[in-house]
Amino acid sequence: MQIKNDLLLRVIKGEKVERTPVWLMRQAGRILPEYRAVRASVSGFIELAKTPELAAEVTIQPVDLLGVDAAIIFSDILVVPEAMGLPYEMIEKKGPWFPDTIGSSADLKRLQIADPDESLNYVLEAIRLTKKGLNGRVPLIGFAGAPWTIFAYMVEGSGSKTFSKARAMLYQNPELAHQLLDMITKTTIKYLKAQVVAGANLVQVFDSWAGILPPHQYREFSMEYIKRICEAVTEVPVTVFAKGAYFALEDIKNLPCDVVGLDWNMDIRTVSAQMEGEKVLQGNLDPAALYASDEVLIRQTKEMLDQFKGDRHIANLGHGVYPDVSPEKVKLFIETVKEYSGVIS
Ligand code: CP3
Repeated sequence: MQIKNDLLLRVIKGEKVERTPVWLMRQAGRILPEYRAVRASVSGFIELAKTPELAAEVTIQPVDLLGVDAAIIFSDILVVPEAMGLPYEMIEKKGPWFPDTIGSSADLKRLQIADPDESLNYVLEAIRLTKKGLNGRVPLIGFAGAPWTIFAYMVEGSGSKTFSKARAMLYQNPELAHQLLDMITKTTIKYLKAQVVAGANLVQVFDSWAGILPPHQYREFSMEYIKRICEAVTEVPVTVFAKGAYFALEDIKNLPCDVVGLDWNMDIRTVSAQMEGEKVLQGNLDPAALYASDEVLIRQTKEMLDQFKGDRHIANLGHGVYPDVSPEKVKLFIETVKEYSGVIS
């Protein structure tokens, strides 16, 4: 089906566009009262994610209510470990928690490379319903966690400041680490391809915990696996968002991916020079700038757009939107991108 607002896809193709497309990481859920109303009708996040009609509804909400140029499917990166045999719980106000974790090769034997048409069909069904509901208004983004980030949760069992258990395994049992990363990668490739078949127009790989590894380990335990994903998923554009991976930008430039996400600590001009026009750049307003006064928010958004001028750019925040920001500020950010980028382009 022809997509009516295909700004985002045209920027990626390298076409000239009227203005910069804009969406927000973690735009589905969290910030909208309309999301919280749907969320209150079920037992929690997991039930919502597993009810395709509701997942589709909250995926479309930001398109209707905020005016973003893309939808991102409402789900979580942790559906992959669950499909492999390691279920998770979402603890209110605390985040994800895994009752069982991976620490030995015996644990690994309990896992499988998942068949997404079986164990992740609820996400695929949500994608199919979202496509119907969007009716071609904007592109739909599919996503998965990068293998290293998924590995970190599967070994650690929860979020952590240090992920010391996960990082210990890289030193104590690198072979086991590679075996697990390989299984996650195989599952992720199948999963992303299935999302594309279901209707995703592009996909994003979130390496949220890229920044906690030293460069040589990042190359060995993360970049190699992201590369395999980028090489395998050729049907649609792929975005790589590796938070905190300044040291790996040269490797990221060499990945066969189309879009590179910048977090808000990254200096736009430095990254731009490093990428030499080979990648579309996505980002990177400080998510906390949405707490600023309107005046400051507008100014910082314009400054960000000015710095990306000359690059193919998709406006976004430098990480997920924080749950307690006002939807009015989010709208102001989006409106500013739309108006100002039309003037400067
Ligand atoms: O972008 C979107 O809005 C689509 C949905 C989406 C969710 N999680 C829904 C969610 C996406 C893209 C994610 C990705 C995700 N999940 C990442 C990568 C991006 C990032 O932020 O770095 C990570 C690391 C996770 C793991 C995760 N899920 C954590 C740490 C938490 C708890 C804290 C938090 O961020 O809310 C979650 C829970 C989660 N995932 C919620 C939502 C809407 C909140 C659950 C609730 O409603 O109670």
